[in-house]
Amino acid sequence: MNEAANWVRVARAGDIPAGEMQAVEAGGKQIALFHTEDGGWHATANVCTHAFALLTDGWLEGTQIECPLHAARFDVCTGKALAPPAEEDLARYPVRLEGDAVLIGLPG
Ligand code: FES
Repeated sequence: MNEAANWVRVARAGDIPAGEMQAVEAGGKQIALFHTEDGGWHATANVCTHAFALLTDGWLEGTQIECPLHAARFDVCTGKALAPPAEEDLARYPVRLEGDAVLIGLPG
């Protein structure tokens, strides 16, 4: 992934324990921020690619998020659609930490 031009502070790391996620907004986009159990930080579009549901209302298991509406699953590390009915992958965004601040990189 290319280095993003705009890094936006979206959350405090201490507010999101490993295994949890948070809905955030940056650059007018609805983004799902995931802190996976392995300690990784990932960000994807928060709106399911199948219909309209927020993935942060679903269930995070390991590195997979399950949509609350029709149970499609996505890999939060890659954005890849893993289980129907979603076929389209999620957009993903780079994440970095600066101290306790979580930043998401938006395309410039
Ligand atoms: S809206 Fe997510 S699976 Fe249908």
